[in-house]
Amino acid sequence: MSNKEKFISDITSGYTFQGSSMVLGAAMLDTQTIEGLQVKAPLKTFNRHGLIAGATGTGKTKTLQHISGELAKNGVSVLLMDIKGDLSGLAKPGVTNPKIEERVQKIGAAWAPHGFSSELMTISNQDGVRLRATVSEFGPVLLSKILELNDVQGGVIALIFKFCDNYDLPLLDLKDLKKVLQYASNEGKAEIEKEFGAISPATVGTILRKVVELESQGAEAFFGETSFDTNDLLRKDENGNGYINIIRLNDIQDKPKLFSTFMLSILSEIYQKCPNEEISKYPNW
Ligand SMILES: Nc1ncnc2c1ncn2[C@@H]1O[C@H](COP(=O)(O)OP(=O)(O)O)[C@@H](O)[C@H]1O
Ligand SMILES: [Mg+2]
Repeated sequence: MSNKEKFISDITSGYTFQGSSMVLGAAMLDTQTIEGLQVKAPLKTFNRHGLIAGATGTGKTKTLQHISGELAKNGVSVLLMDIKGDLSGLAKPGVTNPKIEERVQKIGAAWAPHGFSSELMTISNQDGVRLRATVSEFGPVLLSKILELNDVQGGVIALIFKFCDNYDLPLLDLKDLKKVLQYASNEGKAEIEKEFGAISPATVGTILRKVVELESQGAEAFFGETSFDTNDLLRKDENGNGYINIIRLNDIQDKPKLFSTFMLSILSEIYQKCPNEEISKYPNW
């Protein structure tokens, strides 16, 4: 068996799966694409972790777009964190050209330019659906983490949440939180301490400064009503294709706290509402 024959036979047997799979491209040997020798990945493995690595210009972004589109076509909703702003092109059909035609021919998979049902979302002031969460929903643990509070300060936040909960005081945005903190160290101090224990004004002062720091990164645009609903991310379009949800984050790289706040809240929400066993709903996979 020649080198090439062995290569073809190895790839062919290596990429034979039961259930549906996604074509990623065609195999290359010594820089030559072997026509129709497809490289695939089983759909049922897409709930695992993956890494796409390569130098600039080697096709990482295209690969991500391709995988997103293929998942959407298989009825799976996709959530993309678009940090560089290069993924949103999925929303519009592209245009074909001789280079692409040649590539399609070599891979041996049908292809036509095609836009996907997409939703562009933002957590700052860009165009798109604004994603928000209330301070209450965010909860004392995540909030303490994001404000980088120590145990004592975190304890005060937990107490403030409890106090608001007991008295049905809504904690919607950071203004609400600041108001309650101020109340707790001034006119409300005696009342709160009677029920919940001592609160040091110095500790409250430190927390307030950290809240202001978070605000200065634009966090007030994120905290408040109406809060995002994970179910919206699972929508399908009228053809049964999954929506591709693209969160535009290209303007918040210089706001690390806002970014990590946001990631923590959305991921904890998704992990709670979308357990891994969802995959069993797709019997043909
Ligand atoms: N599989 C491929 N075959 C041919 N051209 C490709 C392929 N993937 C990407 N390209 C082209 O290569 C260029 C760089 O791709 P891109 O995905 O932006 O790379 P990266 O994100 O790794 O920097 C783009 O012009 C794209 O159209
Ligand atoms: Mg790229």
